[in-house]
Amino acid sequence: MTIFIDSSNLNEIERFHRMGIIRGVTTNPTIMLNNGVTGGIQRLEAQAKQIARLVAPMPVSIEVTCQDPLEMLNQALMFANWAENINVKITIHGPEGENENLNVVHELENKHNIRVNVTAMMSAQQCLLAALAGATYVSIFGGRVNDMGFNVCGEIRKLRNVLDYQGLKSKIIVGSTRETINIIEWLEAGAHIVTVVPGLLEKMIVHPYSIETVRQFLRDAEKAMSK
Ligand code: E4P
Repeated sequence: MTIFIDSSNLNEIERFHRMGIIRGVTTNPTIMLNNGVTGGIQRLEAQAKQIARLVAPMPVSIEVTCQDPLEMLNQALMFANWAENINVKITIHGPEGENENLNVVHELENKHNIRVNVTAMMSAQQCLLAALAGATYVSIFGGRVNDMGFNVCGEIRKLRNVLDYQGLKSKIIVGSTRETINIIEWLEAGAHIVTVVPGLLEKMIVHPYSIETVRQFLRDAEKAMSK
């Protein structure tokens, strides 16, 4: 696993998929909105299906757009029906801290065999409960945790140790990437997966000193070939 792309833009996903460097895709309503995926559930369905087809059999996380538990359940069943590799993203709780979401997660995973990515989490303790509820993926938002003046690496380390020690199968996704250093740092801390925004994937590849080195090789190749 290791790297997912955090995007719903088909060109961006296609570009990095072609390089063979991504192992899945995550989206959320904000990403969809920023990528221009507007116009209701039909538009969401069309985009989700195209992404899923493009990267199949790699997993694609699509987030529910509602909060009522029954509505979430029905929407999740609908999303999972769009493509075999679509996983459903559900937030750890509601906008006022309503805590019925884990019921939905548990039911989807255990009764309907649908893979769920529990999202919008900021701590190891939230992720542990999501893992106990049966979530396939538990997403902690590294950048947002760091924005609050903490270092998410501590949470990742604790969480990975607890999951491994307890034999829980959930995979840790760390999202909300802000800097290139986040990726290696969070994987080293114990994340199974870091979901990376396209701009940072780009920055991970291109290094100024590599540019200088490649230029040197090409200059000298030209000289050597013309002698
Ligand atoms: C990934 O699953 C998250 O939805 C995403 O990385 C959140 O990123 P943000 O904190 O930059 O909105």
